[in-house]
Amino acid sequence: MSKDKLWGGRFTQPTDKFVEEFTASIQFDKRLYHQDIRGSVAHARMLGKQGIIPLEDVEQIVHGLHKILEQIEAGQFDFSISLEDIHMNIEARLSAAIGEAGKRLHTGRSRNDQVALDIRLYLRDEIVQITTYLDLLIDALLVQAEANLDTLMPGFTHLQTAQPILFAHHLMAYVEMFKRDKSRLDDCLKRVDVLPLGAGALAGTTFPIDREYVAEQLGFPTITRNSLDSVSDRDFALEFLADASIIMMHLSRFSEELIIWSTSAFQFIELSDGFCTGSSIMPQKKNPDVPELVRGKTGRVYGNLMALLTTMKALPLAYNKDMQEDKEPLFDTIDTVKGSLKIFADMIREMRVNVDNMGKAAGQGFSTATDVADYLVRKGLAFRDAHEAVGKAVAYCVENQMAITELSLAEWQLFSGKIDTDIFECITVEASVNARNVPGGTARDRVWSEIQNVRAGN
Ligand code: ARG
Repeated sequence: MSKDKLWGGRFTQPTDKFVEEFTASIQFDKRLYHQDIRGSVAHARMLGKQGIIPLEDVEQIVHGLHKILEQIEAGQFDFSISLEDIHMNIEARLSAAIGEAGKRLHTGRSRNDQVALDIRLYLRDEIVQITTYLDLLIDALLVQAEANLDTLMPGFTHLQTAQPILFAHHLMAYVEMFKRDKSRLDDCLKRVDVLPLGAGALAGTTFPIDREYVAEQLGFPTITRNSLDSVSDRDFALEFLADASIIMMHLSRFSEELIIWSTSAFQFIELSDGFCTGSSIMPQKKNPDVPELVRGKTGRVYGNLMALLTTMKALPLAYNKDMQEDKEPLFDTIDTVKGSLKIFADMIREMRVNVDNMGKAAGQGFSTATDVADYLVRKGLAFRDAHEAVGKAVAYCVENQMAITELSLAEWQLFSGKIDTDIFECITVEASVNARNVPGGTARDRVWSEIQNVRAGN
């Protein structure tokens, strides 16, 4: 019945049951209970300090809210669909418990600025959490990189063997990605960490509120500067969803590589049994379910970004009920990203590396052909001419079904008179790797010092 509603005053007809269910958000926004209570406590204290409501009422409100918090955490709080959302569920329960004082809590506030506050508080904590999960994954990668400083592997372009690299170098490429993800989240946090409360429904409030005091209590470094924007802005959530999408994109690339590396054709790595499952028909199968699922979940995170972008598209200022649709994509993304990062960190830590297979593959496919070209350049040839000469040598090897390392000096000299016996030491996989001794290169010393750099927090 409309009579039970906190906003029931102007209504004469009860809300249709299905409409009630359809418009409610309590089913999913109840996860904001903690933030809602924190925000209300800060708001009530400010109202008391400013003399807007009696200090005795503030004491009752704060006490009542803490009781509600305990009830919710003990699973003893009955969430009601007819009270629509977390804000009204808590406020109605407070008034039922403490009477008059509870009805003063909403002075100078609207659900519009209240919900904006709750999401920001929630997201702020979750971003910090996700950052710690990124740290866990980075740490797992560093441990594997340290253990694989002497593991050679083929580096690919077009998924064709290109040049030999260290497996540690490949892993450190992901460390770079996840470090950028951290810095993106850090930047996003600056825009999340702003207090919107005080905007009222859209225009501000007639009461002499102290927004800075509320910000201080809740640990916000700044407050929003336009009341319309305060209640209609979801840029911060979109930014987070974009950052989360990029994290998932990185994880999906990594997943794809783990899947390829685990195939019987590659056999570069073995994921531990705990991260794989078998087939109900093929007894030999061990499927890389975890990376496959993370790759798959990337789709839903991208979808969540598109969903909220589309919800926000062309919305007139200020608050519109459409914006209630911000929560599910946001919550789902947070859960998905946290789960994916956590499971990845554990999986990488336990991954077994097949050093021999990787090393063998590193020398295949003429992977050191560029080294021969560079060798000829050092002997005085222009790079383009060197490239041409080595191309012919490769064609010769293909025709005679041999590796580049199997050519004799006499054969080498068919392609360039400048080639001497020192060619043999420069075309080994190790020499090829260690010759790339430039900042950011795959030489062992460089990779080692990069690992130390990251360990030192750089
Ligand atoms: N449940 C609403 C939401 O999530 C709270 C804000 C409601 N404001 C309103 N004017 N109906 O967006």
